[in-house]
Amino acid sequence: SSTKSFKVVLIPGDGIGPEVVAQAVRVLNVIDSSSPEIRLQLESHDFGGIAIDNHGDPLPDSTLKACKEADAVLLGAVGGPKWGVGKVRPEQGLLKLRKELGLYANIRPASFASDSLLANSPLKESVAKGVDFVCVRELIGGLYFGERKEQGSEPQPEAAWDTMIYSVEEVQRITRVAAQIALTTTPPMAVHSIDKANVLASSRLWRKVVTETITKEYPTLQLDHQLVDSAAMILVSNPRKLNGVIVTENMFGDILSDEASVIPGSLGLLPSASLAGAPVVSDAKDFKPCFGLYEPIHGSAPDIAGQGIANPIGTILSVALMLRYSFGLEKQAKAIEEAVRKALDSKEQGGLELRTKDLGGNVRTEQIGEQVVNILKTLL
Ligand code: NAI
Ligand code: MG
Repeated sequence: SSTKSFKVVLIPGDGIGPEVVAQAVRVLNVIDSSSPEIRLQLESHDFGGIAIDNHGDPLPDSTLKACKEADAVLLGAVGGPKWGVGKVRPEQGLLKLRKELGLYANIRPASFASDSLLANSPLKESVAKGVDFVCVRELIGGLYFGERKEQGSEPQPEAAWDTMIYSVEEVQRITRVAAQIALTTTPPMAVHSIDKANVLASSRLWRKVVTETITKEYPTLQLDHQLVDSAAMILVSNPRKLNGVIVTENMFGDILSDEASVIPGSLGLLPSASLAGAPVVSDAKDFKPCFGLYEPIHGSAPDIAGQGIANPIGTILSVALMLRYSFGLEKQAKAIEEAVRKALDSKEQGGLELRTKDLGGNVRTEQIGEQVVNILKTLL
């Protein structure tokens, strides 16, 4: 059978970025050596604050070029107090990178890596148990990219406005991303589209195009529509009702995905993907890699950087998403998720579960990585 060869660019960045990426690299190396049919070529590049220090630019041309030639990018995090007041800031590199790579779909799963983490949720266990959904947020359109204007003179304009605008094509392509993600499980996940169609014209278009696209191109998928205000309530009162794939416009997705991210109990646990296309389901005949940038949802955590105590789970689970969405390696993606679950369920000497500081423990970053890798080897 044919060899699947993929190029992965690592941009660890600043703060805890390099610490958590180092553990994810161990996982990538295990995947690579587990099968002669899978070849992962890794290379590291400067990005963020460290790139400002070394090149005077948070996104040097050489880094951008490497990312454009890669099949996927793994990012740690960027930023920190050292560059906070400068004219050139690390976060500018992040915005430019997303734009240059055409990443129009932001994917954030919210689920419990292990049921043993339910106690960390701010929601009651009976409400939080079994929460398992994927937020698909449109990332380069809508209110954040529509025309912005101020009327009147400085320093205090009399009025200001932002425009929420979507084209049919923009809604079609994000709907296809949501649909393809729904098809990565058996049976497929339900699709919940979220809008404000009772008020906004852009939302009425959104609802119409989502409905048409699913009906025509994905007739077997289950689709429903929720209003965004009601969805915000459901997320904390009965979140299992939204299990499946949530698809929504940029600002609604920004707010709802942050709301959803607190349910599993720590920022350090959650992965994300930003895609430049719709992923192809792994066993499809016409499988082509779908370019994506993968990163944990947290930032560079300067308060704990350099101590070796950051939680690497969000970054390790980002690798699972990379294998699933960019490389079509669903079996390996599942194995990583199972290894994470088993690692979180395993006990240290003394009977304590393996927990980093953000989850109330004192286990080090490296020990979590070690345990995940050891379990993963037995699963592949
Ligand atoms: P943050 O996510 O870095 O940290 C918030 C809190 O959560 C801190 O107390 C931190 O110690 C803790 N935390 C975060 N990740 C953790 C992990 N893996 N393990 C254990 N604890 C963890 O957000 P903050 O403090 O607002 O931002 C710090 C810097 O990161 C800023 O410069 C910000 O601009 C940048 N940032 C970068 C992002 C990115 O690269 N995509 C995203 C968010 C913030
Ligand atoms: Mg946000």
